[in-house]
This record gives sequence, structure tokens and C-alpha cells, in this order.
Amino acid sequence: MGHSDYQSDLDKLLETAIRAGRMAGAILTRYAQSGFHIEYKGLINLVTEADHAAEQCVIDCIRSQYPAHGFLAEERGRVEQGSSPYVWIIDPLDGTTNFAHGFPAYCVSIGLEYKGECIAGVVYDPTREELFSATRGGGARLNGRPIQVSRTAILDQALLVTGFAYDIRDTPQNNLDHFVRFALRAQGIRRTGSAALDLCYVAAARFDGFWEVKLNPWDMAAGSIILKEAGGQITNFRGDTHSLYGQELVASNSLIHGAMLSIIQESLPVVSPKP
Ligand code: IPD
Ligand code: CA
Ligand code: CA
Repeated sequence: MGHSDYQSDLDKLLETAIRAGRMAGAILTRYAQSGFHIEYKGLINLVTEADHAAEQCVIDCIRSQYPAHGFLAEERGRVEQGSSPYVWIIDPLDGTTNFAHGFPAYCVSIGLEYKGECIAGVVYDPTREELFSATRGGGARLNGRPIQVSRTAILDQALLVTGFAYDIRDTPQNNLDHFVRFALRAQGIRRTGSAALDLCYVAAARFDGFWEVKLNPWDMAAGSIILKEAGGQITNFRGDTHSLYGQELVASNSLIHGAMLSIIQESLPVVSPKP
């Protein structure tokens, strides 16, 4: 396939993701106005009617264009479609706790993996009507305009963001150790409650860095390509290649990445070299 065929295929895939993201965002807005039923997946882990309806909408919209593609969606898990190399990774509502409380920080996140690599992503925040998007090699955009990470080079001037998993009460790997260290080293720390938006906000230079301990592929898929295409860096806690299936993540404008990794490594167990 020539470069222009590849690019036009990718543009069509992105258009589909944008349409799906906007339609699902409109569903979230309708539920936010009309009210919704809440169920509990755990003591502090909610799911609402809106999560399910938005997920159905994204899958229907993509399937109508690409019936052979596979899906990995938060509420229904993996849906294999034959042996397609394309897998859409969907969080229909990232920021459910915010949504349930009427706190306007949530989004629809749609990433596209091709042969295991993320090649396109869309994150849509219906409360601000902000649509973040990226394709591999095509740059990152916010409502169609190119975005770039910040130029903040030192932690004393950095605004960082993080989050906490739903098992925060049940495990010592609950991010509170890292949080305490960063709180004393950064200019400020925020917790928005939506990991997909956190990644996009680093991409758009609103935050300088983001770390989190236990994320799922649907939290990170779209945001990770948007961040990379905006010039950002994303790794695991040891500074190695980030994997969507690896849970932990350090994402930054790249200039403060080394400093962030050093702080995280202060809390990690020491790995002794092989004899
Ligand atoms: C959650 C959000 C939150 C992060 C949690 C995620 P959900 O996703 O992204 O920011 O800290 O770890 O589970 O449940 O709102 O889709
Ligand atoms: Ca999520
Ligand atoms: Ca979700």
C-alpha cells in the first residue's frame, strides 16, 4: 500500500471514530440532563445506564462501517471478529464517578490498534465540546487545530496530574506513596478523575506530566497516541516502552520525564542485577 492510500485509509478510520465519539457524547449529555440508573461493580466502582448506552452506540457506529473489526470495550470486554488485525479499544465513559456526581470532567475514548500498535485515537468531552484526535504520523489536534506539549523543564514549575484505582482501600500499590513524593516536588497536582482527559491535557500543554499505577487499555489507548503525536513521551515506571496492557504509565512533555521517573523509582523495589 502506498503512503497516500495508507493516509486516506487512516483518515477514514479517524472520521468514523470521530462520528462515533460525538454520537456517544450526545448520549452522555442526554443522560446527564434526564437522570440515569446507577449500579455498583464494587463499593466505590460505579457503572450507569449511560456507560452501557454510549458503548453500544460506539460499537454500532464503527461496526456499520467496519463489520470485520474486533473490539475491546470496558463494559463488555473483548469481542473478536474473525482474525481482523484491527481492534477498537473503547471506554464509553471515562470519568464515571464524575458523571454520576454531575462534575463535568468525563469523556468518550476510542483508540484503534492495528497489529498491536495504536494508530488512531479520539477523545471527546461533551461538556466542553472538546474533541482531541490523532493518527500515527499525522499529529494531534484539538477541535481540528494542532496541539503540542508544554515546554516546562523543571518540576518546581510543573503542574502534574494523577489518579487512583478503585482498589485504593485494598492494596498498598494504591499510588499514595508516589502522590506524597510528587506533592512535595511539583508546583501543583490535580486529580481530574478521567485518565483519558489527563493524557489529552498533557498533549495540549494544560498539564506537564501524568502518572498512574493501575490503568486499563481503554483508559490509555486513545490518549496515548494523542500524547505521542503532540510530542510527548510515555513509558512504564522503569522508563521502558509503554504497553496498553501494562497498567502503569508515566506521560509527560518529555522535558520532565527523567525527573518524574526518578521520583517514581524512589518508591519502587530495587531490582538486583542478574549475576
Ligand atoms: C477511571 C478514570 C480515573 C482513573 C481510574 C479509572 P472510569 O475510569 O480514568 O481517572 O483514576 O483508574 O478507572 O471508571 O471512570 O472509566
Ligand atoms: Ca476509564
Ligand atoms: Ca469507563
